[in-house]
Amino acid sequence: MPKEYFVSLHDHKSPPTYRFFNGEKWAESLTGKTIDVISPLDNHILGKIQLVSHSEIDQAIERAHQAQLLWRDIPMIKRAQILHLASDWIRHHEHYLTTILIKEIGKTLAEAKDEILRSADMVDYFANEGLHIKGEELSGEAFPGYDQTKMAIIERVSLGVILAIAPFNYPVNLSVSKIAPALIMGNSVVFKPPTQGAISSLHLTEIFRLAGVPDGVIVTVTGGGSDIGDYLCTHSGIDMVTFTGSSQVGKSIAEKIGMIPILFECGGNNPAIVLPDADMHSTAVEIVKGAFSYSGQRCTAIKYVLGLSPTIDKLLPIVVKKTKELIKMGDPRSEGYNLGPVISNAAAEEIEKRILMAKAAGAKIVYGGEQKERYIEPTILEGVKPSMEILRIETFGPVVSFIKVKSIDEAVKIINGSNYGLQASVFTSDEGAGIKLAQQIDVGTVQINSKPQRGPDHFPFLGIKGSGIGVQGIHYTLEAMTRFKPIVLNKPQ
Ligand code: G3P
Repeated sequence: MPKEYFVSLHDHKSPPTYRFFNGEKWAESLTGKTIDVISPLDNHILGKIQLVSHSEIDQAIERAHQAQLLWRDIPMIKRAQILHLASDWIRHHEHYLTTILIKEIGKTLAEAKDEILRSADMVDYFANEGLHIKGEELSGEAFPGYDQTKMAIIERVSLGVILAIAPFNYPVNLSVSKIAPALIMGNSVVFKPPTQGAISSLHLTEIFRLAGVPDGVIVTVTGGGSDIGDYLCTHSGIDMVTFTGSSQVGKSIAEKIGMIPILFECGGNNPAIVLPDADMHSTAVEIVKGAFSYSGQRCTAIKYVLGLSPTIDKLLPIVVKKTKELIKMGDPRSEGYNLGPVISNAAAEEIEKRILMAKAAGAKIVYGGEQKERYIEPTILEGVKPSMEILRIETFGPVVSFIKVKSIDEAVKIINGSNYGLQASVFTSDEGAGIKLAQQIDVGTVQINSKPQRGPDHFPFLGIKGSGIGVQGIHYTLEAMTRFKPIVLNKPQ
């Protein structure tokens, strides 16, 4: 049924070829080239997406620019109403979107449904909070040497055209987290979805349009990152880039982009330190969930666990037991499975290669370790060294490594020596000790007695070092998508 709303998105062949939204209409690219969207569940082609040309990008960005000049003048309350309508549409189509997401990126039903509903909540929250983002007023007299003749009215204004680049692991949610704040603050959006995740993203684009976002205020261009990524990022019509993806790609974009604002969420490679007084059972459950949910393909996944030797000796068997109990690997369309495939054969082969390299270099596979096509068993390694590739670079798969340290200082040194800095967890029954330790750890956020995670979505979410630039989280993202515009009144003396 919901399909009738989305008929313009694709042709009626099997598999369908999807169009891109050029700011005016759903269109086929003049390149005549398409890219296959392959399901990680069974490797079949779900659809094809357009590989757009540079001149089509130029036209789309120009439309976004023209449309933004009108959009920014539409009262914010009206823009908020449109966003609330979009969130209603997302909720209304929850089942349909969930089904696409499961096939397109291999999430379980629970994970996919959660992504869709969380996205609807997020759009509402952005729309409400946007109404409370305001500028300020300053008087010159507060600074020595100035009298009462100057007063600044400091407005917060939109930035212009924002390029939003979303990753495959949350193609709806991490798109909404960029598109909704950009729109409410009066910007227009050039949206570049991930190839796997593009079908859900194209539906999301249509939902925003159906809710009333005017033509050109959102344009959605598809193509591989290597085909159109650099062209988009370095385009003179782009006023800000917001990106979620790997640290390697983030760094390469940042180097090329020039003097425009950026908001980047990149790789995590998150550690957990377990202190001797931690409750080993609840800690083990958090580690299992943190390491293996969505097959470890979350930038907030736990990738390694540090502890003193007696702590790891106690904890590791419990983590293995809980993994056996809680994690069932299989096709997420069938009931009872909660660990699906990783996104592609190439990704699975890379993860398996790193596991085998770690083993060859002296690490022990305590549990799992086997790969069959895109399925990687939940894998627990011991005796891993931070210099091994499995840990040195974020491994986007269901693998967690245990490291014994001689002191907690050594654990902190290992974390602070990493190129990543998204989140870390500390497990302890002494909250005071947890806070003290958290203060020494150089990452964006430290979680005490929980796995790393982005939500609740109004908390600040940020990475340091290779893990990101800028702060996300409802209020913070809204501010990041505006700039100050002081207007100074000079009163005659
Ligand atoms: O990998 C993207 C990151 O934002 C994860 O979010 O909600 O799974 O912690 P979450």
